[in-house]
Amino acid sequence: MSKVLLIGSGGREHAIARALTRGGAKIYAVMKHKNPGIARIAKDYVIGDHNSLSFVENLDWVKFRKVDFAFIGPEEPLIRGMADMLESHGIPVVGPRKDAAIIEGSKEFMRELMKKHRIDGIVDYFVFTDPKRVEEFLKDYHKEFVVKPVGVTGGKGVWVMGDHFQTKEEGIEYAKRVLEEGIGGEKKVIIEEKLVGEEFTLQVFTDGRNIRGMPLVQDFKRAYEGDRGPNTGGMGSYSMEDHLLPFMDDKDYARAMKILEDIIAAMRREGREYKGILYGQFMLTAEGPKVIEINCRFGDPEAMNVLSILESNLVDISWNIIEGKLNEKIEFKNKATVVKYVVPEGYGTSNVIKGSEIKVNEDRIEKEGALLYYASVDEKSGRIYTTTSRSLAVVGIGKDLHEAEHIAEGALKHITGRIYARHDIAKREMIERKIEKMRELRGY
Ligand code: AMP
Ligand code: GLY
Repeated sequence: MSKVLLIGSGGREHAIARALTRGGAKIYAVMKHKNPGIARIAKDYVIGDHNSLSFVENLDWVKFRKVDFAFIGPEEPLIRGMADMLESHGIPVVGPRKDAAIIEGSKEFMRELMKKHRIDGIVDYFVFTDPKRVEEFLKDYHKEFVVKPVGVTGGKGVWVMGDHFQTKEEGIEYAKRVLEEGIGGEKKVIIEEKLVGEEFTLQVFTDGRNIRGMPLVQDFKRAYEGDRGPNTGGMGSYSMEDHLLPFMDDKDYARAMKILEDIIAAMRREGREYKGILYGQFMLTAEGPKVIEINCRFGDPEAMNVLSILESNLVDISWNIIEGKLNEKIEFKNKATVVKYVVPEGYGTSNVIKGSEIKVNEDRIEKEGALLYYASVDEKSGRIYTTTSRSLAVVGIGKDLHEAEHIAEGALKHITGRIYARHDIAKREMIERKIEKMRELRGY
């Protein structure tokens, strides 16, 4: 039986913990916040800064090598080099080393890698450090554009024209602000052409050479219904029984898969072997899939879609990733999934209702046939309170999207408090609009 050190305390990590436990693992969890779901199934856990290399390095589990391998959920510890640190103590890791996690740590690195290796799906982009140059450039740029800090901002630092800003002048203002304030941790900004289409997520397992795809997922980043409001970490997501999306076919899937394969091969050629989970965020445009961003870990909420229907054993997959033997097929149930996050009122703004009690009727949720994953909550004397982050998520699983969505909605009725969820996610009207939009864009 494998003893697994699990880093992270969100909904994604609860889904990882459950899949590993299902596979026979014993979990030793390091969490910033006590995730009640992880705490309940873990053999043991500690609360502390799971992003801090020194905090984790000083745990007995690591110092005395009491675990068999580690699974790192979030990007931050990976980008900081947590995998390298653990490996130096003889603990193998599911997750890339620092020199490979840079694929998420620097959007400039990712774009340059794709350009240098002529990988399909690249987007026009321009990098600036000088506010005057960015202004001069944009004055003569006549397409719609997007402004992105080079570093990591959790999706919240990206401004899209027509969405977060309307005029070129506002875009210039924001690009200058990114440079002057060093938003994203670096005084560098990327200007990209604005892509039009539908977004989708493709996640893969890889041992650095072999790659195994997971079902496609569509994630909803905007806080409010109708895709309005501020960008968030993701309010919910869905996947379909055929593992495609309503507006995508297997040719589109194969093209996205080829892009990720090429990225992993390019990383190997650069001497940056990539092991773990690779996450591709794409825009399906009239010309096919284009890369919006590449992440070095599972998506959150997307992990809850795919891991809830994973049939293969995640412990075996983990060992195969570590040992470079990811040769076998990985099976997922042919079921649709719908994840809906429950967040505190005001989530995504500066007025989040924090410390407010949430009542969760776990029995009733189970009777609805839904799964429940905890994320960021405070637990005091058996009661659950909101923090400023996403609180918990329900997952409906069904023979088709309609059934899965219905189950997720049924489960939401058993969660009360000063909370909010997007009820429109995966509803029939929304899906039909997406199909129609893609049909128009592709001209059929
Ligand atoms: P990112 O942090 O790069 O994932 O960006 C956050 C969100 O901004 C994405 O999920 C997209 O909705 C949007 N976005 C980013 N880049 C582009 C682009 N080039 N064109 C259109 N939308 C974009
Ligand atoms: N759901 C988007 C992400 O995990 O990056």
